[in-house]
Amino acid sequence: MEQVKINGELVHVKGYGSRHLSQDAVKELIQQSQEAKKQAYCPYSKFRVGAALLTLDNCVITGCNVENACYNLGVCAERNAISKAVSEGYRSFKAIAIASDLNDQFISPCGGCRQFMREFGLNWNVYLSKPDGSHLKMTVNELLPVSFGPEDLSMDKVFDIPNEY
Ligand code: THU
Repeated sequence: MEQVKINGELVHVKGYGSRHLSQDAVKELIQQSQEAKKQAYCPYSKFRVGAALLTLDNCVITGCNVENACYNLGVCAERNAISKAVSEGYRSFKAIAIASDLNDQFISPCGGCRQFMREFGLNWNVYLSKPDGSHLKMTVNELLPVSFGPEDLSMDKVFDIPNEY
């Protein structure tokens, strides 16, 4: 049985071992995103979203959307989970599960969150879920094809702009 840390607490879960997640591990990750959804602070949109991010070393870090009276300062659940993870020292991820209250639709991450995921690699999995636990599995690359990422910044350029520019 694998040891998994969920928001700092060690628990034991089967099937988190490799990069490939077992059915049970996916179910568990989706359940954690549903739990995270309960913390959503969304008095303006009333649209709850939760995310559960699984790191390469099997820690699960959750996030929810946090809105603000200054509307444009609201932050999505996925971005909160990723920022929490990075600030705890994690930069390699296996998967993220996303939950909302939409009954008939898999929750689809916004463009900004896709770009935020992409920063940390193209070939990891995103589970778009429904409240009944059914899900659609996509890679970051499938969600954001032909993307711009960290590698692009160090590609050959026509001009080398000097530091003092
Ligand atoms: N939201 C997320 O947290 N994640 C998504 O993938 C889509 C949208 C939030 C942002 C806002 O708080 C609310 O859902 C409505 O857009």
